[in-house]
This record gives sequence, C-alpha cells and structure tokens, in this order.
Amino acid sequence: MPSRADLESLDRADPLARFRDLFALPEGVIYLDGNSLGAQPRQTAARLAEVVEREWGRDLITSWNRNGWIDYPARLGGKVARLIGADADEVLVCDTTSINLFKALTAALDQRPDRRVILADRANFPSDLYIAEGLARRRPDATVRLVEETELAGAIDDSVAVVTLTQVNYKTGYLHDMAALTRAAHEAGALVVWDLAHSAGALPIDLNGAGADYAVGCGYKYLNGGPCAPAFLYVARRHQAKIDPPLPGWLGHAEPFAFDTDYRPAEGMRRNLCSMPSILASAALEVGLDLMLDAGIYALRTKSLALTETFIRVVERRCPGLFDLATPRDPARRGSQVSLRHPEGYAIVQALIARGVIGDFRAPDILRFGFAPLYLRHTDAFDAAEALAAVMEREEWREDRFRQRALVT
Ligand SMILES: Cc1ncc(COP(=O)(O)O)c(C=O)c1O
Repeated sequence: MPSRADLESLDRADPLARFRDLFALPEGVIYLDGNSLGAQPRQTAARLAEVVEREWGRDLITSWNRNGWIDYPARLGGKVARLIGADADEVLVCDTTSINLFKALTAALDQRPDRRVILADRANFPSDLYIAEGLARRRPDATVRLVEETELAGAIDDSVAVVTLTQVNYKTGYLHDMAALTRAAHEAGALVVWDLAHSAGALPIDLNGAGADYAVGCGYKYLNGGPCAPAFLYVARRHQAKIDPPLPGWLGHAEPFAFDTDYRPAEGMRRNLCSMPSILASAALEVGLDLMLDAGIYALRTKSLALTETFIRVVERRCPGLFDLATPRDPARRGSQVSLRHPEGYAIVQALIARGVIGDFRAPDILRFGFAPLYLRHTDAFDAAEALAAVMEREEWREDRFRQRALVT
C-alpha cells in the first residue's frame, strides 16, 4: 500500500510530468473522466483561433489547398496509425465511431456472402449493437448474435461472418486479448471489427501484429480532440480494394472535383470517406494527437497501470467491503479505468463531483473512474480514493441534491 509521500516521489520522477501543464485543468479538480471527454490541451484554443482568424477569415476557400484542409483525414489518420500499430495508408480520421462502424461491418459482411451472423459481445457499447442490428434489419441475409464476454471465442463458428468487439469494455474496463480473438475468428473463417474507443491513446495497440481486419475509435477520449472530435477508421491494406462503400459520398470518389455523374471509388483507403472533413474539429484533434505522440504510448501505459493500481489499493483499504471491483485485478486484462459497483453509484459520483473529483456513472450501478496518464499525477489517484472514502464515511451521498438525475450521467 503506497503512502502519499511515496506517490509524491513518483510524481517528481515522472517522465511524463511536463505534460500536465500543457492542459487547462481547473485548480482543485481531479479529472477522472478523460475516458469519456479528454481534457483540453492549452494549445487548442490558440490553434482554433488561428484556423478561424487566418485560415478561414483571411485565406477563405483557398485554405482547402493552401492550408491543407483537404488532407486532414489522411494526415490525422497517419498520426492515429502510429498509436494503433497500423500503417499510415490504413487509417482515416472522419465521421463518428458509430458511422465508421457501420462502414466496417458492411464491408466485412460483403466479404463473407455465404455467412449470416454478426457476432457481438452482449456487454459491448450499446451504440455498436444498435448499428449492427440496424444493418442486419436491412439485409435479409444477416442477423446479430449476442453472447457473453467469456463465451466469445467458443461462439465463433462457420456461420459467423464478422465479430464486432470493443477492445476495452466501456463499463468494466476489461481488456480483450486482441491477438487471440482475431486468431480465433480467422481460424473459423470470420473477420473482426475492433472498436478502440477506450484503448486508443491509453495502451499500446498492434492491429497489424494481430492481423486485424477493421477497427474504429473515438478522437475525444484519450486522444483529447475535444467534444465530438472526429473518429477514425482502420482497414487492413489487404481488404481495401474489395470495399464497395455503403456511404459513397463525393470525397471517396476517384476524382471528387471531376463532378462525375457516375460513382467511381478512389483507390485504397480514401474510398471510405463520405464528406468534407470538419475543419475546426480536425484542427483541435491534431493538437491532442501531437501531444500523445510526443509522450509515447509505452510510457503512458506504464503510468496508467500504476495509477489504476494505486486507486484500487487505496479504495480497498479505505472502503473495505463497500464496493465490488468491476475492473479486472490482473493488469494485463485492465484498460485505463477503474469501475466500482454500488447500488447508490449515481449519488456517490455526484457527491464526489461536489468535492472536485470528476468521474461518471453508468447504469445500473457502475461508478467509473478514467485515468488519463498524460495529465494525471500519482497523488491524484491517492487523493481521489481518499475523497471517495470521505464521501462514504460521512454518507454525503444521502443528500437529496445528489439524487436528481441529469440526462447525461
Ligand atoms: C466503445 C464506444 N463505441 C462507440 C461510441 C460512440 O461514439 P460516437 O458518438 O462517435 O458514435 C462510444 C462513445 O462513447 C464508445 O464508448
């Protein structure tokens, strides 16, 4: 069990310590929701002002060429690729995670015309399941089969066209073994679409090493791209030429500015684009990505595990028997969050927020604490656990004001 003094020494020796000052974190707040909305890099405001004032205000439409606006999806894709073990020409930054998932699942189903099943983990993020169901409703040849997390590998049989999985479970923080599950799917003749929303920027990912087929992920969580930052899409190079895009917008055309009446897909990855990129959002995401690449994903993972370990240990010592740990104790199976179960989880999270410790709640009973290693200190993990202990000891969560449910939890 670490003492606070031990953690202060860790903070002094932290090779990532300099990054904290590069974020606009309010005084007195311990921000444990970077797994939902990453904190704001200080440089983002200046970069956005530059885009608005100079690129849009002065250079106007010439910015598409002069300031590289048209290249944003591929340029940012190249940066994301370095974080997820992909090559630059296999990733695009565009649209949202759900929309990119629709594209990837459609492509995978098209590649397995003799198979019907989209296999998913029942505990997957609901939007992923809705997208899969929505797709299956439109294809008489397709159906969605849901199984428990632990039954996945055994459920991949020769009816399965594609398996869709989130690498780190959004509620529990459980980390799937990407290489093993991809291998199991391939051995059964199926493809896999990985959702990296809770792993990109939080831990090393090796899509190419695992032989992955498709992947999607968010820009606004650990990548610190800002509210609703664009998402990303990965397609292994070997699949790219086979794709008949389900959303064949003009930017994915071989020659968008030929304004052809007939659609001809671009070579390679670019055919997966639909529309022009959102420029302000892309500019903000680039600031976040550059910080991530500067820090290095291996150093981030080491620190992330130390932070989650500290939090778990202090909570267990200070709140014995009060919570069930929903996150795996085994660090090899843990993402960058700690989730605790308690029937009064919503009110407890609200009481903690009132003390300046921001986490969130996921129904029915999960208190979720994300540990973004880029800007959190080791002492933050300790202090947050102490604040939780205080909320429980004084039963602060019983106050009425902490029980009024807001729309976003
Ligand atoms: C695992 C996972 N997948 C998909 C999404 C949906 O992302 P989007 O709103 O970009 O479609 C989220 C959002 O939090 C998520 O956590």
